[in-house]
Amino acid sequence: MKRVITYGTFDLLHPGHINILRQARELGDYLVVGISTDHFNKIKNKQAYYTFIERKAILESIRYVDMVISENSWEQKVKDIKKHSIDTFVMGSDWQGKFDYLKSYCEVVYLPRTTGISTTKIKSDLRFKNNKL
Ligand code: CTP
Repeated sequence: MKRVITYGTFDLLHPGHINILRQARELGDYLVVGISTDHFNKIKNKQAYYTFIERKAILESIRYVDMVISENSWEQKVKDIKKHSIDTFVMGSDWQGKFDYLKSYCEVVYLPRTTGISTTKIKSDLRFKNNKL
C-alpha cells in the first residue's frame, strides 16, 4: 500500500485542483490531503471564500481523496509524513524545490500545474464580470 500526501487551500475548486488530486492519487493507493485552516490562511495572507469545514466536506466528496487532515503550520509536514506512513509527498510545480528537505523522509514529487486556471484568477475574472454588468 503506497501512501501519498499533498497540501493546499483548495478554495473554489477548479480543474487544476482535480488534476493534481487525480495525479497524486495515481502515484499510490491512498491519498491524504492537508488543507489549510482558516487561521493558517490568515498567516499566509490568503482569504478563502469557503470555510475550512466547507472545503473539508468538498474535498472529502472527491473520489481521489481518501483522507483530509488540517494544515495548521508550515512545520507540521515531517510529523504528518511519519504519522500517516507517507511514501510520497506531492506539490504543484509552483512549489518546485521548496520541499526538497522532505526527501530524507519520503519521495518528493512536483507535478506540473494546470495552465490558465487558479482560484485567484476565478476571483479576479468574477470581479471583472461584475464590474461590466
Ligand atoms: N494547482 C495546480 N494547478 C493549478 C492550480 C493549483 O496544480 N492551476 C495545485 C497547486 O500547485 C497546489 C494545489 O493545486 O499543489 C492546491 O493549490 P491552491 O493554492 O489551493 O490553488 P490555487 O488555484 O493556486 O489557489 P490561489 O490562486 O489562491 O493561490
